[in-house]
Amino acid sequence: GDLHKSLDAAVAACGAGEPTGPKCWAVVDAAAAPAQALQKVLSAGGQLGVVIVAQSGPVSQMAVLRAMEYSEVYVAAVELGAGANEVLRAAASYAGGPSVVLLAAPAAVRGDAQWTAFTYDPRREDAEGASAFQAHGTEVRKEIQAFLSRESLLTLVAKRSLPADSAEGAGEGDDLTQGLADASKTVTILYTSDTGHAEECAKAVARQCRNGGYATSAVRCGTLDSFDVGALASESLVVFCVATAGKGEFPGNGRGFWEKLNARVGDVSLAGTKYAMFGLGDSHYWGKGTEDSRINFAKPARDLDAVLEQLGGQRLIPTGYGD
Ligand SMILES: Cc1cc2nc3c(=O)[nH]c(=O)nc-3n(C[C@H](O)[C@H](O)[C@H](O)COP(=O)(O)O)c2cc1C
Repeated sequence: GDLHKSLDAAVAACGAGEPTGPKCWAVVDAAAAPAQALQKVLSAGGQLGVVIVAQSGPVSQMAVLRAMEYSEVYVAAVELGAGANEVLRAAASYAGGPSVVLLAAPAAVRGDAQWTAFTYDPRREDAEGASAFQAHGTEVRKEIQAFLSRESLLTLVAKRSLPADSAEGAGEGDDLTQGLADASKTVTILYTSDTGHAEECAKAVARQCRNGGYATSAVRCGTLDSFDVGALASESLVVFCVATAGKGEFPGNGRGFWEKLNARVGDVSLAGTKYAMFGLGDSHYWGKGTEDSRINFAKPARDLDAVLEQLGGQRLIPTGYGD
């Protein structure tokens, strides 16, 4: 790909290009606090490549840690010379989304017990079912360890939410019982989102479900409005990621679903449906601590949660919120 003069220039060039084309690269200085700029880049997605160069210690790995939280991104931290070429080649060939490489001068990390050289390549999960994360040494700094244990916790949750009989029956041949069990081993993840955060959450949940043992085709992920309200009762497990727009309103791609669901209250039972709700909002949006904030914080998620409960839906885990 091309090397651009600044991150903004690379974002601009990439935004205009084909999403599948070669990467637009930018090199940024670790001393220039790249975390915030990076956040913008990562939420924009696309075929961006960012190399963060750290010339002096101590080297913060916070930016690359944050980067790993986006599902489709190649992330690495490596010392110049210690296999850096190979890492950069892998970063350049990653077509699933942006690539972020922290490149440290050997002197900057020499003697730094916290420094963790690693690669995080989602292709490992897709192709080999392996962990996307690989540390290159034996020491993994505690922030990264915490990230990894959270990831595996999510995978564990996904595994445990599989219907018990189908999980046990896996690999027992294709008799009718097995077929029926497999048919119930699906999860539907529905989101409503104006600026992409809830969508990002939903996709992360979908990825974790696949890592946790669901077949790829058994994990469906789409907007609330793309989903037929009438089919809700026949779903065994639905995960909702619901953002807030306007003043406590559903985002644009969820309003239709919400209206239709309300029209059916009274003549639909969700007794056979397990669900989990994650609500996104901003408690500062209408003034932290105010009555307006109390009423409107993550209101659509809370409203939908209440209606699902009223219709007999079984809450799988306590409702979570992202403020
Ligand atoms: C125009 C606008 C209005 C918002 N109104 C609210 C609100 O009333 N209550 C709330 O909790 N959050 C509100 N938020 C915050 C969003 O819900 C929050 O930023 C969320 O992460 C956005 O998710 P999305 O990117 O999936 O749309 C608002 C955000 C915007 C941009």
